[in-house]
Amino acid sequence: AAPRGGGKLDYRAIAPVPRTVDTVTVPEGYDWGTVIRWGDPLFADSEEFDILHQTGASQAGQFGYNNDYLNIISDGGNDRSGYLVSNHEYTNEYIMFPPAYIASNFTDVVDAAIEAHGLSIVDLKRAKQGAKWEYVRGGRRNRRITGTTPFTVTGPAAGHALLKTVEDPTGTRVLGTLNNCAGGTTPWGTVLSGEENFNQYFKGRGTAEEKRYGIGTGSTERRWEEVHDRFDLTAPGYENEANRFGWIVEIDPEDPTSTPVKRTLLGRFKHEAGTAVVAPSGQAVVYSGDDERHDYLYKFVSAEKVVEGDKKHNMTLLDEGTLYVARFTGDSPASEIDGRGTLPSDGEFDGSGEWIALTTDRKSFVPGMSVAEVLVYTRLAADKMGATKMDRPEDVETNPVNGKVYMALTNNTRRTAVDEANPVVGNRDGHVIELTERGGDHASTRFDWVILLLAGDPAVSSSVYFSGFPQEKVSPISCPDNVAFDSAGNLWISTDGQPGTIGFGDALHKVTLDGPERGRVEQFLSVPRDAETCGPVVHDRDNSVFVNVQHPGENGMWGAHTSYFPDYLDPAGPVQVGDKVAAPRPSVVQVFDVTGN
Ligand code: FEO
Ligand code: CA
Ligand code: CA
Ligand code: CA
Repeated sequence: AAPRGGGKLDYRAIAPVPRTVDTVTVPEGYDWGTVIRWGDPLFADSEEFDILHQTGASQAGQFGYNNDYLNIISDGGNDRSGYLVSNHEYTNEYIMFPPAYIASNFTDVVDAAIEAHGLSIVDLKRAKQGAKWEYVRGGRRNRRITGTTPFTVTGPAAGHALLKTVEDPTGTRVLGTLNNCAGGTTPWGTVLSGEENFNQYFKGRGTAEEKRYGIGTGSTERRWEEVHDRFDLTAPGYENEANRFGWIVEIDPEDPTSTPVKRTLLGRFKHEAGTAVVAPSGQAVVYSGDDERHDYLYKFVSAEKVVEGDKKHNMTLLDEGTLYVARFTGDSPASEIDGRGTLPSDGEFDGSGEWIALTTDRKSFVPGMSVAEVLVYTRLAADKMGATKMDRPEDVETNPVNGKVYMALTNNTRRTAVDEANPVVGNRDGHVIELTERGGDHASTRFDWVILLLAGDPAVSSSVYFSGFPQEKVSPISCPDNVAFDSAGNLWISTDGQPGTIGFGDALHKVTLDGPERGRVEQFLSVPRDAETCGPVVHDRDNSVFVNVQHPGENGMWGAHTSYFPDYLDPAGPVQVGDKVAAPRPSVVQVFDVTGN
């Protein structure tokens, strides 16, 4: 067995797992189990999961689909209770529902899908510290936020003409949140969640602004616009409905009666996430990547300071302050960046950078654009200001131990013109940047940066780099997506896309940041077939790691599933037996120590 002390998550890296393996693979000495699955009932009066007859009403009382962001929070002073917060990014109707049911009950399917989006907040209990968590049906904090939950809009764009529709002439009240991807818990205890690929839900008019955000003009994949007019931007009165998505939302998970909020001052783009940290001055700083090829990294700095213990005040912080976009400048000659990942002569892909102010809550710095226009069309504003086009910025988070900011750039197969911060042509495997704000001040407008790693499989790829750590000693890694940290400050990276690049199942890896082993990648787990590893939460003091297993079996379809995770019912038998179904179910998974507890 791997050498292991108490509460340190010692493990010996697992070998990469073939992409067809349909289970969670963990290191020796560990086991895994589900905490909650798609369809599990949250409330005393929730309908039981019935995969053959799901409706909007049944799904509204159950755990949603394709959970991505995750946090597990134990109640202070009590090791046996807590809660989880999870997003539900999107739906795969062709896996979720029988084709005959889609044909006969299309409205039910659309409404079930809308209710399967959003977030869940669920109470947890466990026997003792370090034990596996169980979810509590009917828990006091249990809540579903879905594609129909009323949100309040705040900040400078609230009430602007660009946010008004026939259903909401005030431009301040939106039904639902969509495509919530990664996220973060703020220092004041709220949850920030990014509305990412919202474009896919809307049938557009073909305006330049809609095109910049990827909104198409034909039928959408899910055809919600056939059931609900608001998803059809060509329907009179609904031209602005898509402007009401693409925001950072803030939710108070402790109060299930609170109205969730869309914070317009953090800009509108394909927010991967929003992660908050407190600057030395006390100002709140939120980092957020725009996950698109050649899009940007943003940060927000609040005007006012965080007041410890005053949640009411702290929930006003994101409505006043400054929104910035990042420009990265390399310190090596452009001629030394060869596009193949060869290190420049100074031995590092590194340089400095600046945060370019786009707008405050009162004053726009973008020529020809008002404050509200900068916020609603943030991508167009950043285009004008010379921001650096990045290789798909995914999760961006601050390391609580060393204070540096870690940015996953998942890939960019369309990268042609390289720069020192995006140095690989056709970047298939992605990279990770370590960003240090000047003076360790998250509110600074200047920073320094260095590429921590160029991902890939050293056995087959030539453009890999692991901060100088020997390539032959790392776990292969591709398409970094979410990042997290353990209590010692090691970086944990989950992946989205390894099966299609290096041929292994998506994974969770630990990366050492300090000392002679800086850059060492050690794989901790692998997720089931076709799934993406999301929302890693590393509780090393509890010897536990949590991941969201998102979209297992995504390459299959009803009648030809490629995954039966986690119920594994015989596909030749009945579709449903009790609460188990012969179809894949996205789930929250806990990995726990079975030897040292
Ligand atoms: Fe939903 Fe950028 O991953
Ligand atoms: Ca350099
Ligand atoms: Ca993601
Ligand atoms: Ca992703």
